[in-house]
Amino acid sequence: MPRITVNVDGTHYTDEVEPRMLLVQYLRERLGKVGTVVGCDTSNCGACTVHMDGHSVKSCSVLAVQADGHDVTTVEGLAQDGRLHPVQQAFHDNHALQCGFCTPGMIMQALDLLAEVNDPDDQQIREGMEGNLCRCTGYQNIIRAVRDASQRMQPGAGPAVEHTEDTPVPRTPADEQVETKVKGGRQS
Ligand code: FES
Ligand code: FES
Repeated sequence: MPRITVNVDGTHYTDEVEPRMLLVQYLRERLGKVGTVVGCDTSNCGACTVHMDGHSVKSCSVLAVQADGHDVTTVEGLAQDGRLHPVQQAFHDNHALQCGFCTPGMIMQALDLLAEVNDPDDQQIREGMEGNLCRCTGYQNIIRAVRDASQRMQPGAGPAVEHTEDTPVPRTPADEQVETKVKGGRQS
């Protein structure tokens, strides 16, 4: 069997793997990284998204042997010293999850987007996240969370702020459009 050496969340692992083993299987079944989940078997949903050498990949569409010699980061490698990563904190504070199944992949994809586009607008966020599906359809709060995370990650941004009713996340015309439609739906 092929032997691979891979750095996952800052730790080096050397293992023998079957040539057909998927990266997501290796992460979950060998390393116990069950924060990375499988939501489909068709490379469609993005729930299994991790980073390989800093770029997002769907780990159900990558073989473990292809990760040989590479750095892999999963959602479990983001928090540092017991503090959530700003993107994780933004998802928490904006209630950007319902069942939470899509959340690990959404967070990893959001990080990739924010590394590419420093201050994305809503359209850029929608396009950057289009490969990730939320079966609970909580897209509006996911977009708000990514927008919030981008502000938290700006150079010179202060420490993470938990948004509450007193310090709400800034709203945009897109939020208001959605709320108007929702209210209109309820009245009719
Ligand atoms: S589990 Fe990988 S894309 Fe759905
Ligand atoms: S929160 Fe349930 S699938 Fe996205």
